[in-house]
Amino acid sequence: MKVKTSEGVGDYRTLWWGDGKLMMIDQPKIPHEFKIHECKTYRDCAEAISTMIVRGAPAIGAAACYGMALAAEAKEDLEKAAEVIGSSRPTAYDLFHALEYFKENFSGGNAVDVAETYANDSAERCRMIGVHGAELIKDGMNVLTHCNAGALATVDWGTALAPFRIAKEKGVKFHVWVDETRPRCQGSRLTAWELLQEVIDHTVIADNTAGSLMRQGKIDLVIVGADRIAGNGDVANKIGTYTKAVLAKENKIPFYVAAPSSTFHNELESGAQIPIEERNPSEVSGMWGFNKSGKFGRIQIAPAESKCLNLAFDVTPAKYVTGYITEEGVD
Ligand code: MRU
Repeated sequence: MKVKTSEGVGDYRTLWWGDGKLMMIDQPKIPHEFKIHECKTYRDCAEAISTMIVRGAPAIGAAACYGMALAAEAKEDLEKAAEVIGSSRPTAYDLFHALEYFKENFSGGNAVDVAETYANDSAERCRMIGVHGAELIKDGMNVLTHCNAGALATVDWGTALAPFRIAKEKGVKFHVWVDETRPRCQGSRLTAWELLQEVIDHTVIADNTAGSLMRQGKIDLVIVGADRIAGNGDVANKIGTYTKAVLAKENKIPFYVAAPSSTFHNELESGAQIPIEERNPSEVSGMWGFNKSGKFGRIQIAPAESKCLNLAFDVTPAKYVTGYITEEGVD
């Protein structure tokens, strides 16, 4: 992805191997600061996944594979490393897919190559999602997306946002409604930032706005990403996705899920079996950001005494999904 920094425009991936370390864009600071975070050990990598310095299913998968490469290069116990990395976040299937990939392909001495190949293949899958998904976007459309399923959530290109990038390249004129996506605000922080970089027309809306826009005929299409898709097509994605899917069906608006094959957990019978991450309630009771003096910190919103529930994902039953955009096509 192209990133405008104070030093000019740079070409970045979300994460990459550099100088014997795993480098990644530090996502909690975006859009206010563009910093690179370094992981020197597999434990650093697990920590970066659980604290969401790197997040989004395909990016988590690639980070896990690079984490295993760090462990192998340091001659660590690989079973232990896989256990620690595998416990960093529970929902995104890509994480487990990547650990399995590393186990199958590592033959001693090729750890970094295995991780590089995984990351390159993952980026290419996302580019193909863009090629296929762009066919759905027509001139004059208003498209809604939830959370961030862009380049930042993958090695590059994104899943839900990849079709936007390709459609823009093809000269299609469209507008994107960006769900803010509380509590971590991946929409208002990360998707809005990415769309600005790509010069794609967009408007950020509060999470509870989309239903009203749908009723007014102001949303023509919904495209979201996925963290895990069960064998029956049920989709786990960022909390709030289910609400949008039900509203889309009620308003006869096509609702598409964009995801690479690494997100499909076909052995799972249904979405009911997908583990849903519950994160720290402090993410709901407060918000993070930069204050006027440029200091990054948290402010308390809810009464400190109130209980808060922080479910990171929900499951959208397959009956609400119009189609799946994968590297193979739209089905
Ligand atoms: O908690 P996050 O930010 O990791 O959640 C991300 C999402 O829910 C994305 O929609 C999903 O991972 C698809 S990313 C291409």
